[in-house]
Amino acid sequence: MTPSLILGIESSCDETAVALVRSDRTIVAQRVASQDAAHRPFGGVVPELAARSHVEVLTPMVAAVLADGGVRLADVDAIAATAGPGLIGGVMIGLVTAKALAFAAGKPLIAVNHLEGHALSPRLIDPALAFPYLLLLVSGGHSQLLAVDGVGQYRRLATTIDDAAGEAFDKVAKLLGLGFPGGPAVERAAAGGDAARFPLPRPLVGSGDPNFSFAGLKSAVLRARDGVAAFGARDAVDLAASFQAAAVECLVDRTARAIAAMPGATALVVAGGVAANGAVRAALAATAAAHALPFIAPPPWLCTDNAAMIAWAAAERLAAGFAADGLDAVARPRWPLDPAAEPVRGAGVKA
Ligand code: KG4
Ligand code: ZN
Repeated sequence: MTPSLILGIESSCDETAVALVRSDRTIVAQRVASQDAAHRPFGGVVPELAARSHVEVLTPMVAAVLADGGVRLADVDAIAATAGPGLIGGVMIGLVTAKALAFAAGKPLIAVNHLEGHALSPRLIDPALAFPYLLLLVSGGHSQLLAVDGVGQYRRLATTIDDAAGEAFDKVAKLLGLGFPGGPAVERAAAGGDAARFPLPRPLVGSGDPNFSFAGLKSAVLRARDGVAAFGARDAVDLAASFQAAAVECLVDRTARAIAAMPGATALVVAGGVAANGAVRAALAATAAAHALPFIAPPPWLCTDNAAMIAWAAAERLAAGFAADGLDAVARPRWPLDPAAEPVRGAGVKA
């Protein structure tokens, strides 16, 4: 059977991305445009600016990626786009662009859950990764532990009861004046800091369920900062290191709890933007090894938002026999991967 060719579009946050991926795992072409420069003056992602930037960049980027891959729209077998969850303006722009292309070219449309893109992304680079695996999904909007039983089969084992891990990195970067985007800035600062200098809490570490909490840790960083007279660059670096060590310890402890709750897992897998963090990856690798589990972390470019994972999730869905979506597919600001998951007390708007 000739492999199918999927055009994927991602626009749910502050990256505009387009990719051409084959079902045999060949990445034919891909581009990612970051909007960092537009959001930097505000120290965070401004939804309206994000949406406007997606509008400007997306259509030319589709043409450029097709040209990069040396293919015409007619050669593509399906068109996939993130349909949620995410910033609704951006999601709508990506989805409506995909609908227009699908309608004009007479191709099937696949409306992809962004979280499913992250969840299946490790299988794009690792053909041997078999279901069921334990997934730590840590991004700007989500911190979850999921049992990935198959394509479209996700059981949420744990979630954050307040902030997401990436959100905590971003807020701490802002508190410490480290710049935007926050996660990589904290990681860079932490590399030169003394992680033992500031004693910070490890929220929920040791608790019976594997849920996460990061809001108290972030507030402790604020208090520690305000407790230093004439807080300077050296202090910021040490506090970044102390925060990262605490966050890593929380992630590892909660993940170990979930490993115990999922005895049949084939591997421990990490995905989402925070999975690009070297300290997070190293600590999780050690945890997996201590439990005699293989550890899979996609390369950093595949951890942060990209369209290859969206095209790949669509390829997985088609191969698993899921039907294409209609042109009436809706953009969804919220879209839990496991609709049966119990709401967690205190979890607020986070799925
Ligand atoms: O998956 P992603 O690109 O977008 C969402 O779906 O949210 O994740 C973005 C998040 C941001 O919070 C960002 O600060 C964080 O991932 N992040 C990092 C690193 N790179 C990105 N956090 C810690 N260390 C990093 N190196
Ligand atoms: Zn993401």
